[in-house]
Amino acid sequence: MRERTIFTLVVLSLVLLTVGFLVATRVDLSGLMPEQAATSSVLVDRLFNYLMGLAVVIFLLVEGALVYAVIRFRRRKGDESEGPAIHGNNTLEIIWTLIPAIIVVVISIYSYQILTQIEKPVNSPLVVRVVGQQFIWTFEYPESGVTSSSLHLPVDRPVQFQIEAKDVIHSFWVPEFRLKRDATPGQIDELTITPTQLGRYPIRCAELCGAGHAAMVGEVVVETEQQFTAWLAAGGRDPIGSASEADDSVAFDSTPDGRTVFVEFGCGACHLLSDGGGAGIVGPALDGIGDLAEERVGGETAGEYLRQSITAPNSYIVEGFAEGVMPSTYTELMTPEQIDALVEYLLTQ
Ligand code: CUA
Repeated sequence: MRERTIFTLVVLSLVLLTVGFLVATRVDLSGLMPEQAATSSVLVDRLFNYLMGLAVVIFLLVEGALVYAVIRFRRRKGDESEGPAIHGNNTLEIIWTLIPAIIVVVISIYSYQILTQIEKPVNSPLVVRVVGQQFIWTFEYPESGVTSSSLHLPVDRPVQFQIEAKDVIHSFWVPEFRLKRDATPGQIDELTITPTQLGRYPIRCAELCGAGHAAMVGEVVVETEQQFTAWLAAGGRDPIGSASEADDSVAFDSTPDGRTVFVEFGCGACHLLSDGGGAGIVGPALDGIGDLAEERVGGETAGEYLRQSITAPNSYIVEGFAEGVMPSTYTELMTPEQIDALVEYLLTQ
């Protein structure tokens, strides 16, 4: 009887370990994940696969024991007797304390190895300052003095993000790069990433930061070194006639459409505007602003008032709203044509 039990346990352990090993090394979980667009993505996914293998073994073991016990020790018909009084089993308790402890230590060592590889120092990275504020991301390239609301990166070159926040805590996250870091007011946190795949990926804010949190999204464009240099040379705007003009970056079109500017710059995160899909409550509502704008400031036409509200938002604050909440960087972020288009569009609302 004893030999049979030991034999069963050995066979079971071997089966479980084989299943776990196969999951960790052979099963392709990449379908569950966003694209692997950086060196860090591959490393993080490797750790994820390994944890998945471990989790499968533990799941099968625990659930298997549970199902076995439920069937094997179920109450038989007519059995009204008490169950046996058991006062624990020291050997069992030592085993099921030791095994998880060993697993946790192994996971720590492996995670540490992965982290060391991700944080390996790099030579002369491209420095990009990332500024989070309610509810937009802005990116500054100190070497070239460019400021932009979209993040452009050259492929295969390490980039060091210096992340900060102007108001509350945000979190800079590109799922395709697998890494994220909090943006905290009053301090600069660094994150180094090497993008490896050309493409456009979403930037998310991963820390609840207010009513517009869900709308605090941006875009990272990973491009060739030449495209990146051309973009920088054009002051952080897609040069007219370049290959990227043909794609869907309407915000940088030579004749921008005001509604598109409103949508692409995320104005709806803070402002209610039915036509532009905005539902924000942080700033004044913009439905009917075309008529209201005329009456706000004496001596200013509706157009002048709207332009001033975008480029110098603190010069007049609508009653009931706070000063200094709206970013005053739109003159840098938008082209003059985009501001014109936005003013024209708002006048019709
Ligand atoms: Cu910024 Cu959430």
